[in-house]
Order: sequence, then C-alpha cells, then structure tokens
Amino acid sequence: MSHAHHTPSRRSFIRTSALGATSVAIGAAAATAAAPVADATAPWPVTPACSGHETPAAMEGPLFKPNSPETTQFVTPGTSAGVLLDFTGVVYATDCKPVSGALLEFWQCDQNGDYDTAGFSLRGHQYSGADGSYRLSTIVPRDYYGRWGRRAPHIHTQVQAPGGPVLVTQLYFPDNTQAYGRNFAELNAGDALINRACTLALNPPRGGRYTGRFDFVIKTRGNL
Ligand SMILES: [Fe+2]
Repeated sequence: MSHAHHTPSRRSFIRTSALGATSVAIGAAAATAAAPVADATAPWPVTPACSGHETPAAMEGPLFKPNSPETTQFVTPGTSAGVLLDFTGVVYATDCKPVSGALLEFWQCDQNGDYDTAGFSLRGHQYSGADGSYRLSTIVPRDYYGRWGRRAPHIHTQVQAPGGPVLVTQLYFPDNTQAYGRNFAELNAGDALINRACTLALNPPRGGRYTGRFDFVIKTRGNL
C-alpha cells in the first residue's frame, strides 16, 4: 500500500495544527466535561445532546505518526484476531453545529498491546461528512505497560475543524467491556491518565462485534 499521496489540504491541516496548539491547551484546562449517558439496553446509544463543552484533551503520547493513510477501515488480516469494534459519531463545534470536513486521526495498539511503528496498521485519518459524522471500523485495543505505567485500553485521537486548533485526546472503554480476558474495570481504575468523559458508549456485543458511539465537541476557527 502506498502512503505517498498527500493533498495540499492535508498539508495545510498539519501546518495549522502547530499554530493552534496553544489555544487547545488553554481551552482544555477551562473545559468541564459532561459525561455522555448511554442506555446499555438500547440498540444504539442515544445521542447525548451537545453540551457545548469541548471534549477534554489528553496527552498525545510518543507514538503518533504523521502521514497516515486516509481510511475508515482498520481491520486487516493482521488485526482480525482482535475483538471487532465499529463506532461512529458526530463532530460538533462548541456552538453545537456539526462540523463538516473535520480531520480525524485515529491510532491505537493491537490485540497484543503493540503499536505498529514500522507501518500504518491501526492508523489512519478521515474527514467528517457534511453532517459532521465519522465512522471507524477497528478492533478493541489491549492494555499495555509503558512509560506511564499500565494503560487501560484506549484509542488515540486528533480532531481538527478546517482552520481550527487540534484537539488531541484519547478514547476509553466502559468497565464492562469484554475483550482478551482482561478486566476493564480494574484497568480503567488503575490508569493514571484516564478521563471517563472520553469513554465510548458501547452496545452489548453481537456476534463478537462491538458497536459504539462518541461525539466530539471541538473549537473551530469561528468559535475560539
Ligand atoms: Fe497509547
């Protein structure tokens, strides 16, 4: 697979990222997060009303790689041993209007807790649709032990409206998630970096596959 194609608009996103970093940090400190409430019995999590509160930021970590492929499909023969996970959501501005064309980057470790540092397995970017929606087909990542101790399973994320600052955060899993024989409640409780406001709303697994939802609320150029 070639990753040589990068459009001018993609480059301008990255350039804007560096400029927007300061305002992201300031906004994150001020934000008070309202945790989305999911009904575990519903066939699809109820979309929480947009609170207007920016999704809390989190540490980027050392394992982000630029120039990821544009894709919404992370599942490959190499990752198919993982517990399948499809999740979707909407990118909102802080005025609760959907953001179209927002850049979303996702990167995560695999079913063994390993990040692909040589290639782009379980790494990719996409742009939200006209209605602000995005979708990712992937696997549940496993916990791992790193420089910040044992990390609960999480998916690293960057979200950026066109011309806006970059939100860098991490998405977590509910305590009752079942994957790889791991105790997610213990892992979540033991993770020093976790922010429960960034927990994916998951439906009960069907046919070994989880579906879930997470809506982002981000600053935009017009709503700083
Ligand atoms: Fe990580």
